[in-house]
Amino acid sequence: MNTTRRKLVIANWKMHLNTSQASLLLHRLHERIKIHRDIEVVLAPSMLVLQPLSMQIDRRKFRLAAQNAFYKDEGAFTGEVSFTMLRDLVHYVIIGHSERRIHFHESYEEIAQKVAAAVRNGITPVLCVGETQEERHNGETKQVLHDQITTALSHLTAAEVEQVVIAYEPVWAISTFGGELAKPDDIQRQFEFIRHQIAELYTKKASKAVRVLYGGSVDDQLAGGYLQIPGCDGVLVGSASLNYHKFSGIIDAAYRVQNSAKE
Ligand code: 13P
Repeated sequence: MNTTRRKLVIANWKMHLNTSQASLLLHRLHERIKIHRDIEVVLAPSMLVLQPLSMQIDRRKFRLAAQNAFYKDEGAFTGEVSFTMLRDLVHYVIIGHSERRIHFHESYEEIAQKVAAAVRNGITPVLCVGETQEERHNGETKQVLHDQITTALSHLTAAEVEQVVIAYEPVWAISTFGGELAKPDDIQRQFEFIRHQIAELYTKKASKAVRVLYGGSVDDQLAGGYLQIPGCDGVLVGSASLNYHKFSGIIDAAYRVQNSAKE
């Protein structure tokens, strides 16, 4: 189903690594990772580290993502960085991560504004969706995904939706929120539901084009299995992306899965 879409591996470094630590990790990854045309490797460091890393990065191997940005292009918004400021620096911006929804109370409307601002500035949004443990136990997973997707994409046209990346990250599976391992069958069901939503709201073309990732306790041992789930276009990696052995193992797994799909 997804053999034409390149596998996407995103390292979300969250609020870890200062400039020299990030530079060292990039250096080690650079030595270890080959140029793979069939997979895309994206690093999402802290805002502070984006600029220095962009000078060091080999663009044949890596792309950059921001972990957040503010939706106004410019103005009196102390402490914020806009998508406009990031447009020459990053290809992607992570939007609506559960840590931002939970710790920083980002609302559905704010997330929708951020998705629209990313697209307006030529940056690909990586929209994170996923239910909490409580919502899962209450049988609300589909409703939550439906609400998160419909609101977040509400300012986009079908053609714009085709460019979006959606990361399904059940909150209960994130290592720092519990780290329970999600079952591949369940993930596949949610992937199908996400694509079904896009087809219903927009077009079949958009639902086929949109890239859907999985995130939540992905490491080098589990990555291959997750990447083989039908409809899985890649992984969004948190803690394992801070360890270069583990992260390069994940990239190797993506490469193997992508190559076996082509055969
Ligand atoms: P972990 O891989 O540490 O579970 O984090 C997942 C995540 O939140 C990536 O955005």
